[in-house]
Amino acid sequence: MMGGLKIKEVAVLNEDNPEFFEKLLKDGADAVKPEMEKQLKQSDKFILDACCGGRCFWFNKSHPNTLYIDNRVAKKGHIGKGYNPNHEVKPDIVMDFRKLEFLDNRFKLVVFDPPHLLSQVESSMMKKKFGDLKKETWEHYIKKGFEECWRVLDNYGTLIFKWNEVHIPFKKVLSIIPQSPLFGHRTAKHGRTIWWVFMKIPRDAIVEKNETGEEK
Ligand SMILES: C[S@@+](CC[C@H](N)C(=O)[O-])C[C@H]1O[C@@H](n2cnc3c(N)ncnc32)[C@H](O)[C@@H]1O
Repeated sequence: MMGGLKIKEVAVLNEDNPEFFEKLLKDGADAVKPEMEKQLKQSDKFILDACCGGRCFWFNKSHPNTLYIDNRVAKKGHIGKGYNPNHEVKPDIVMDFRKLEFLDNRFKLVVFDPPHLLSQVESSMMKKKFGDLKKETWEHYIKKGFEECWRVLDNYGTLIFKWNEVHIPFKKVLSIIPQSPLFGHRTAKHGRTIWWVFMKIPRDAIVEKNETGEEK
């Protein structure tokens, strides 16, 4: 409980408030900023989905301990031509993952599944579903997003980073981010989707050993 509200009540405020969502769609994020700020203050959710899109990989798409953010909103049917008619982008809070409005060490688990495709045409189904990156700026964009996710992650917290290397190879992505994953796994038909697991291990918990196995 926080700010006098239970998690469930905050969830109701987010999920079951059609007026809030309609206003967000119609007038944009600024118009609902006071409500969103209220949610931020009241929320004691400890999982962050930093770019939730359609929440496709979630088993429970409204997990009560998770805060879902994205930098856009899109209504059901937005992809067009009957594709994914139920796909919608309905974040709890509209926010840019490059500038997260949270204190440091705020979340126990952060999920980061940013756009991975380079410049798609406006009408592209993939762009409508996943967004896209610009050739000239993608490195800074992804690096900044990762750094922000890392900053709001608590010590000993876990960061899951999902990437698809159809346009940008995973080695290139790893070379621009300041941390190394513990392990990862390839999935999807062609094995181009990769899930990495990072843990924010505090500096003083890292034990370095020399070649003979003794602590340095
Ligand atoms: C690959 S999709 C995420 C798909 C999602 N994980 C799912 O299960 O459906 C990437 C998402 O990142 C969002 N995005 C792009 N730039 C962003 C930013 N600067 N801040 C927050 N979200 C962003 C896009 O709007 C898009 O919904």
